[in-house]
Amino acid sequence: MEKPDLLWWQTAVIYQIYPRSFQDSNGDGVGDLPGITERLPYLADLGVDAIWISPFYTSPMADFGYDVADYTDVDPLFGTLADFDELLATAHGLGLKVIIDIVPNHTSDQHAWFLESRSSKSNPKRDWYVWRDAKPDGFPPNNWLSAFGGGAWEWDEATDQYYLHTFIPEQPDLNWRNPEVVEAMHDVYRFWLDRGVDGFRIDVAHRIMKDPDLRDNPPKPGADGNFKSMGEYEIQHHIHDMGHPDVHDVYRDVRAVVDGYDPPRVTIGEVHIFDWEEWVRYYGTNLDGMHMPFNFTLLYVPWDAAEVRARVDELEAVLPAGAWPSYVLGNHDEPRLATRFGPERARLAAMLLLTLRGTPTMYYGDEIGMTEVPIAPEDQQDPWALREPELGRDGCRTPMQWDSSATAGFSAAEPDDLWLPLTADVTMVNVEVADRSDTSILTLYRRLLSLRRDRPALHLGSYAPIDGLPDGVFGFVRSHGSEPLSVVLNFADEPATMPLQAVGGTTPLISTQLEPVHIDGGRLVLEPNEGVVLGS
Ligand code: NOJ
Repeated sequence: MEKPDLLWWQTAVIYQIYPRSFQDSNGDGVGDLPGITERLPYLADLGVDAIWISPFYTSPMADFGYDVADYTDVDPLFGTLADFDELLATAHGLGLKVIIDIVPNHTSDQHAWFLESRSSKSNPKRDWYVWRDAKPDGFPPNNWLSAFGGGAWEWDEATDQYYLHTFIPEQPDLNWRNPEVVEAMHDVYRFWLDRGVDGFRIDVAHRIMKDPDLRDNPPKPGADGNFKSMGEYEIQHHIHDMGHPDVHDVYRDVRAVVDGYDPPRVTIGEVHIFDWEEWVRYYGTNLDGMHMPFNFTLLYVPWDAAEVRARVDELEAVLPAGAWPSYVLGNHDEPRLATRFGPERARLAAMLLLTLRGTPTMYYGDEIGMTEVPIAPEDQQDPWALREPELGRDGCRTPMQWDSSATAGFSAAEPDDLWLPLTADVTMVNVEVADRSDTSILTLYRRLLSLRRDRPALHLGSYAPIDGLPDGVFGFVRSHGSEPLSVVLNFADEPATMPLQAVGGTTPLISTQLEPVHIDGGRLVLEPNEGVVLGS
C-alpha cells in the first residue's frame, strides 16, 4: 500500500517489551532475548509494526537494566549478542522493526568509565562524570534531589568529592559537556546501528544537560495536580537540574549520526515535559532534533471527553509543519492502564490510542487487559519502591500472561521462583483465553490494529475534531484523499445519542464492544464508554 511521504515509524504501531517479563526461555524465572524471539510471531500476528525493548545490556540491575555497565554487550541474564542478532533477524523476517533503549544520562557505577573516573581526581575520565567539592560546611554543592528520593549527590570518601546522580547513587550522571563522552556515546549508537537496529528510545532524554553553574532549584509551593506525584521530589521547580537549552545541540548531533544510515532509523526521546512550547523544541529548530519526543499527556489527563480533546487539539496546534505526533497510554513506569481505567474504559482507551493521528506506543500485556499486580512489601524489587514504597513500579512489570498454567506460559521455573509474582486472575486474563473470545479486549486490539493498517485515513490521515457532539463525547475525523473516517468516543457512564449527520459517517466499521452499533432513525446511540469508528 502506498504511504506517501511518510517514513515507517510514522505509520507504525510500536509495542514495548520489558525483557525481564515477556518470555523466559531458560527457566530462571526472568525473561530473556531468546524468549522474545520465540514470541515474535505472536506480535506479527497481533498486527504491530515495531517493538521497543527496554534495556538488556550488561548491568548489575540496581535499576533493572537502566544502570548500564556496558552499552555494547548483552547481560548474561538476557543472553548474548548472538541472541540479539537472532532476535533482530527473526523480527526483520516477520516484517517487524526493532527499537532499542539507550540510556545516555547515566551509567551504572560499575561501568568501566565510572570505575576509572572514580579512581582518582587526576584520572583522564574524571571529567566524564559530574564531580564537585563539598561546600565549606561539608554539604553537597547544591540542593538538587534524586528523582527516586533523597539528595542527588553522593560523597566519595576516597577522592573527597561528591558525584551527581539524578537517579540512585548506583547511576552516576555522565558529563555531556565533555566531548569525549559525546564521541563515546555516538560510538554506542553506531555499534547498534551497524548491527541493524531500526531505532532508539532515549531514556530521560531531557535530563542530560543541566545548568553549567549548578544553581539551586527554587522551591515549589504545591504539586502539579494533573501529573504523577513524585513524592518529595516535587518540593522544587526542576529548572536547573535538567533541560538546559544546549540539550538540543546534543540531539541535533545524535540525529546527524543516525541519519547517516539507510534505510531510515528513528530516535524517540523520553521527554517528561508538559509545557508544550518547551516540549516541542525537542523536534529541533528545523526538525533536526530527535524524530519524535514521546507525548505522555494522555497518561495524566483527567479521563473526560473535553479534557482529552483539549490536549489533542493543543498538541495538533503546537506541532510545527512536518513534526509527527506520538501517543502513549502505558509503560513500565506507570500503573497499568486497565487498573487506571477499569475494563470498559480500557477498551475506549485502546480505540483512542489506535485512531488518533500519530505513532502510538502500546505496553506489553495491555492488549489482554493485564492489571496492576499488588506486590507485598517484602517482594518489592524496584529501587524506587525500596525508597518510596507508594511509588513502586513492580506492579506493571509482572510476567506476561500467555496461558492458564501455573506460570502463565511465561517460564518453566516454579511459580515461586518468578522474579515478580503473577496476578491472581491469570487463569481468566491471558492470551490463550482471550483468543478464544470474539469480544475480548485482545480481539478488539487485533481488529483495531488491522483496521488502522488497512485504512490510510487512520495511519496517515489528517485530524479534525467534531464540534457539537453531546457532553461527554469526543469525536474526530481522520481523512486521507477521498476517505474520511469518523471516530466517536463516549467517555461518559451514560448512553449518548447524536444525529449521524453530526458525526459525519454512516457505516459503522467497529465498536469497542465488538457488537453491532445502535443506529436508530438516523441517530447514533453509544453505550456508556463505547467508541465507534464509522466510514461514509
Ligand atoms: C526512565 C526509565 O523509564 C525508568 O524506568 C528508569 O528507572 C529511569 N529512566 C532511570 O534510568
